[in-house]
This record gives sequence, C-alpha cells and structure tokens, in this order.
Amino acid sequence: MLQPLTTSKGPIGVFDSGYGGLTVLRSLVKQLPQYDFYYLGDSARSPYGNRSFEAVYQYTLEAVQWFFNQGCPLVILACNTASAKALRSIQQKELAQLAPANRVLGVIRPTTEVLRQYTKTGAVGILATEGTVQSQSYPIEIEKFYPQLKVYQEACPMWVPLIENNEQEGPGADYFVKKHLDAIFKKDPVIDLLLLACTHYPLLEQKIRQYLPPTVQLLSQGEIVANSLVDYLKRHPEIANRCLQQSTLTFNTTDSAVAFDKQAAHFFGAPVSSQEVQLIPGGAK
Ligand code: DGL
Repeated sequence: MLQPLTTSKGPIGVFDSGYGGLTVLRSLVKQLPQYDFYYLGDSARSPYGNRSFEAVYQYTLEAVQWFFNQGCPLVILACNTASAKALRSIQQKELAQLAPANRVLGVIRPTTEVLRQYTKTGAVGILATEGTVQSQSYPIEIEKFYPQLKVYQEACPMWVPLIENNEQEGPGADYFVKKHLDAIFKKDPVIDLLLLACTHYPLLEQKIRQYLPPTVQLLSQGEIVANSLVDYLKRHPEIANRCLQQSTLTFNTTDSAVAFDKQAAHFFGAPVSSQEVQLIPGGAK
C-alpha cells in the first residue's frame, strides 16, 4: 500500500555495517555542523563484505526502514558494500512503498564523479570489500563518467576484520596491506590513484602509505561524500527543509553499546555514546 507523502522533519540518517561510516559522519559533521545526524552501525551483523547479495540487501533495507521510523527524511548509506548491493533497488523498488518523499543516497556515485582530477596516468585502483568488487559497481559507474580511465579492483577481505579488531598497527596489518598493494600494482604498475572504497579503510591509511610510492595518491571518501551532500542539499531544498538543524548527534548500534563506544571513538575521532537498538527482521514487510 502506498504511504502518504510526508513533510515531517527529522535528522539525517547515516548507515554502515559497523564503524566505517563514522569516518564519513566525521566529515559530514565538519561540513554541515548545523544539521542533526542519526548514526546506525549494524555491528551485530558486521562485516557485510563477504555476505551474499540477498543478506546485504535485506539488512540494508531493515536499516533504512528503521531510519524512516525514526523520522529521518534522508539516509546516507555510508557503506560501499551496502551502496553497491542495495542502494539502486531500494531507490527504484522500495522507496515508493516505504516513504516516497524520503531519499536514500550512497557513496559510490559521489566518489566516482570526482576521480578524474586525481590521476595523471588514467590508471585507477579500487581497494574494496569482496562484495563491492564483485558487484562491479565502481567499474560500471566510472565507465559512465570517464570511459577513458583504466580501472583495476582488488578485494581486501581481511582489512575490515583487522580494523574492527583494532589490529591496524599489528604485524597482520603489514602482511595483508602489502599483499593487496602488491597484487593491485601487479595488475598495472602505472596506477597512480588508489581509492579506499570501503569506509573502514581510512583507519589503515597510515599503514597503507608506508608501502606506497609517493607518486601514488590515496583517496578516502569522507570529504568527497560531505561535499556532495552539501551540494545535494542546495539543489534539493524540499529535502533540506525537512532535515532538522539543531546540531545533535545520536549514535545507535545493533550490538552492545559499551563495546561500540570503545571502538567507535577511534573512527569518529571523538568520544561516542551510543544506544542499542533492534531492527525489525523483514524490514519493509
Ligand atoms: N564499511 C563498509 C564499506 O564501505 C563495509 C565493511 C564491511 O562490513 O565489510 O564497504
């Protein structure tokens, strides 16, 4: 049944499988400090990177439904895996049923739009989860904007578990960072731009830089996504007017709040105090 169009106000929702989206939220709050944000990390089911298309789709849908129930008129999927596997279908199939006046945005398109300016050789490396790589979302999107770019992908399945377990400085991180950088440069040694296409990866940035020649640019998404949201809100006053502007931040997790707060502070760069919430299985149904 179609839901009525609503014009009620609420916070901007920011979603990730766990902590990674906090690296995006950090930039959003910096650029749009006047807005209210609701963050949700689905820590109980994270990581999403190796999960099936169906699972990521269902979990993301449940999260979007939760944000809408909290009154969020706009939700940012600050997770590449969720953006890759669920965004388009949610926009095209579910939104009309759930809340036709609301919007859901992702991180892949805004990132793709600005890539060209960071590469001289035209060879770009995408470092991402298995799910994002398999979805082919980046090569497909980049082809639309910049067909002349050569795109190489490398799935780094151990990076998120290392980061989520606070092992980004340990010897395991050295091993797995080097392994995947070697692999991507083997695909094309003239790659001069590497995109951290997973919102967790900025936590490994220092380690990655240790193994990179200085001629290679390393790009993370926080600032790019924030710039894009600033622009979106200017172009869409009908949505911007429905986003509350009282500078509040609310953190939510599907797992233990105590555990979340401890780890989340590393990602957000400031203390975090969260509450535990439950998503409704089946989401929209
Ligand atoms: N942070 C997420 C991303 O940007 C996903 C990490 C995961 O859950 O595997 O892809």
